[in-house]
Amino acid sequence: MENEKGASSSTFKMGNSAQERSLPYVPDCYVVPSSYEPRDALDSSSESVPTIDISSLKGSDDERRGVIQELRLACQYFGFFQIVNHGIDQSILDDALAVAKGFFELPAKEKKKFMSNDVYAPVRYTTSLKDGLDKIQFWRIFLKHYAHPLHRWIHLWPQNPPEYREKMGKFCEAVRVLSLEIMEAITESLGLGRQYLSSRMDKNGMQVMAVNCYPPCPDPKTALGLPPHSDYSCITILLQNLTGLEIFDLTAHGGSGRWVHVPEVKGVLKVHIGDHVEVLSNGLYKSVIHKVTLNEEKTRISLASLHSLGMDDKMSVPSQLVNDENPVRYRESSFNDFLDFLVKNDISQGERFIDTLRIKD
Ligand code: OGA
Ligand code: NI
Repeated sequence: MENEKGASSSTFKMGNSAQERSLPYVPDCYVVPSSYEPRDALDSSSESVPTIDISSLKGSDDERRGVIQELRLACQYFGFFQIVNHGIDQSILDDALAVAKGFFELPAKEKKKFMSNDVYAPVRYTTSLKDGLDKIQFWRIFLKHYAHPLHRWIHLWPQNPPEYREKMGKFCEAVRVLSLEIMEAITESLGLGRQYLSSRMDKNGMQVMAVNCYPPCPDPKTALGLPPHSDYSCITILLQNLTGLEIFDLTAHGGSGRWVHVPEVKGVLKVHIGDHVEVLSNGLYKSVIHKVTLNEEKTRISLASLHSLGMDDKMSVPSQLVNDENPVRYRESSFNDFLDFLVKNDISQGERFIDTLRIKD
């Protein structure tokens, strides 16, 4: 026991992590050093998280213009917003969370079939960020699978629980339709027009589902579910069963920033602006830094649906957004470039994909 307590991450065999075994203490390799993030930036206010009623995107021209303006401000200042009246039935959301929970409750033997540390695998089950490989481990278990086009990937998904494919498939399809609607609004808000990306995203865009489980943690103050990071995607649409998500508000406290708790309201979906929309906007929109905190009693489940261009389709700064005052600020990149980055870098140490794309002045 003594020995295990001081264990380095490399002593955990895959499938044998502390969070999977419900260890009653937090091993050292999960302890996030206090130097890791500025504690004085911590703040738990949530009143300022923007919430957008997107049903007005289907309304009159004036109504649409109003929503686009709200969206523009949310993307510029937070890189994050919540959406209400998104049109997805509550039963589709509840069923997807239920089958996700059902999957994580299966015996280890069943889940191990999907175990892989290969970030290029279209379906994989693992823990933390890269199981045992990064310096700090995180109290998360996850199943990642590609989801679009559904017929190409669904036969690789878990067959247990028996309703997993059907219920998760319905959720993925509904969220994808929503993602296209939001991306049209985003390109419109940048003055690029509604169709700027839609045919590329519709034809060969990727949808990657991160089905996350954060078991109860015996000492939630010392460990994290996920470290501060931003998503590589254009946008990520997130559903959670409990609070735990925090976003970093860059503009607060005169620019030193603060963490903001995202509240949980039934049926509300969250949208993260990812690295590829930061590139698309030439830096006007911010890819949001977010993290996941833990809970001592309850298991948190979240479904993060990451939407991007095709595997090798490069996102670049549109020429319409470039002029003498606004030179190109980012190099072009694809989802595959992000995966290459993930293999070579340790996100637990704060490395960000977007930083590798920035063109220095
Ligand atoms: C992610 C992520 C947040 C959450 O999977 O990239 O940020 O609430 N998830 O689980
Ligand atoms: Ni994320």
